[in-house]
Amino acid sequence: MTTTPTVIDIPGFPYKSYPLGWYQVGWSKEFQVATAVPRTFFGAELVVYRGESGHVYVTDAYCPHMGAHLGFSTIEGNCLRCPFHSWLWDANGRVVEIPYSDRLNTSRTLHHWDVREQDGVVFVWYHPFGEPPVWPDPIPEVPGAETDALYPVFPHACHVEEIQMQPQFGVENIADAAHNATVHRWAGKPRVSKFGSEGHVFTTETKGDIQTRNGLVPQSIIVKALGVGIIFTQHELGLGDAGDQASEYATVCVTPTKGMHSKLFTTSWIQRTPGDTGDVPTGRARAMISGTHREIFESDARVWGNMRYEARPPWALEEAKAMKALRTWCDQYYPAG
Ligand code: FES
Ligand SMILES: [Fe+2]
Repeated sequence: MTTTPTVIDIPGFPYKSYPLGWYQVGWSKEFQVATAVPRTFFGAELVVYRGESGHVYVTDAYCPHMGAHLGFSTIEGNCLRCPFHSWLWDANGRVVEIPYSDRLNTSRTLHHWDVREQDGVVFVWYHPFGEPPVWPDPIPEVPGAETDALYPVFPHACHVEEIQMQPQFGVENIADAAHNATVHRWAGKPRVSKFGSEGHVFTTETKGDIQTRNGLVPQSIIVKALGVGIIFTQHELGLGDAGDQASEYATVCVTPTKGMHSKLFTTSWIQRTPGDTGDVPTGRARAMISGTHREIFESDARVWGNMRYEARPPWALEEAKAMKALRTWCDQYYPAG
């Protein structure tokens, strides 16, 4: 389907549309079978629902008949029953029943978005011209996700807030080593030690030190941007004692809602504390989740939510290469300019 891109007009921001890619719309457990949920993303009103087959669907919100909001529908099987005149729309967007008519008027269809559900997270594909997904999976498989080996991600290992920001602000963080000293309180001069892209994945490795009770501990963080809207990390946390290591898989996802605003989602996949059978993370896992929350929502988001995007920054020599490479890679995701 070809669509006309939603135009965004943000002072100083060089792009006039949202970038194509996969984006988080929520967590699997938010979408219970047979309940329609209204959501706003990409300047559009949408409906998210889980059909009786267990599959999650995302559709445009307004009924093609006379415009009722389908977020207030009932679900029958995998179909939406409109709250206005009860037309029944199937999982392919076709009308399959008009209760007061013997003839189906099939001239209009309800637009369905491409959806992927992975490791407890629900993603949709956005393309400014309505083109199909360019890469198949939003995130790599997380070992042990959705099993008892890890804490469930929802509702205790995740967080969302609406922030005045664009996905571009978030993705640029991965090549911006210098902000780690100021915003995340790393010691000394953190640096991007490696960066490069392969298809829709841009990877950076940042090295530096953090101050702990046991003195300076070297950090090496590898972060991947999966398109512009998803940042994926596997964070090895060393606390200085031999063998005292833990790993956390995490995503930071930024999904545009309307105009300048986006929902900022964090999700952490963390091993259970041995012997703990509850869903509320404890011990080391709990500390890692609150660390992620603090670094993203109390640190980065304070900058993102108040900044003005600078299209032509006066780069310092140390940051220029990685930042320019990342911005050039991002350009391809804005086919509408
Ligand atoms: S507006 Fe949906 S059936 Fe009429
Ligand atoms: Fe950051």
